[in-house]
Amino acid sequence: MRDVIIIGAGGHAKVIADIVIKSGDRLLGFLDDGKSGTVFEQYSVLGTVEDAEKYKSEAEFIIGIGSAAARKNISERFALKWYTAVHPSATVSLGAEIGCGSTVMAGAVINADAKIGRHCIINTRASIDHDCRLSDFVHVSPGATLCGTVTVGDNTHIGAGVTVKNNISVCADVTVGCGAAVVKSITSPGTYVGIPAREL
Ligand SMILES: CC(C)(COP(=O)(O)OP(=O)(O)OC[C@H]1O[C@@H](n2cnc3c(N)ncnc32)[C@H](O)[C@@H]1OP(=O)(O)O)[C@@H](O)C(=O)NCCC(=O)NCCS
Repeated sequence: MRDVIIIGAGGHAKVIADIVIKSGDRLLGFLDDGKSGTVFEQYSVLGTVEDAEKYKSEAEFIIGIGSAAARKNISERFALKWYTAVHPSATVSLGAEIGCGSTVMAGAVINADAKIGRHCIINTRASIDHDCRLSDFVHVSPGATLCGTVTVGDNTHIGAGVTVKNNISVCADVTVGCGAAVVKSITSPGTYVGIPAREL
């Protein structure tokens, strides 16, 4: 059993709290600069983000914040032991790799030889198929589907229900709006929407 502290105390942090508890690990609480009191069930805010230093010898940490920029900033500011949260109902292939500090939510599927970077979010029912390569701080939103051998660059956000065709690359710093279908590689940072996805 591992002792875990979640950085952030919003809705995303609550979902991670549920995963930690259901994984049989011990949730100590949350760190947040703007909130106090109870966050989820009996678990509450223990202090500010800076207080991670105080707890670092006794717990592992995971950043429960949706913003990739915030996850990147906090992960670079503090040298902590990062906890990787995988919901017991997620299906993770034996050959798949999930980087430290990442979260895999309920019903997600990560297929053979897929590789997920550090501090990524694979959200509820998202599907990452064989041989995909996701860099760091990527967020794949609920119900999104990455077909086989898709590559996604740092900080990119794939919106809810998006489909990315097989063998496609999406570069770093892209947002793909919910419901889009990505059928050609995206090579410039920006926001892309629609079927087929085009720059907004
Ligand atoms: C694409 C997105 C980032 C654009 O947000 P935004 O920059 O605030 O854009 P706006 O809402 O001002 O919309 C601008 C235009 O794009 C259109 N648009 C916005 N999102 C769209 C989408 N997903 N698909 C198609 N068109 C979209 C709007 O209708 C609007 O069109 P108009 O100018 O003709 O009225 C956002 O709408 C989106 O889809 N985010 C992802 C949400 C998501 O998946 N969340 C999961 C969280 S776990």
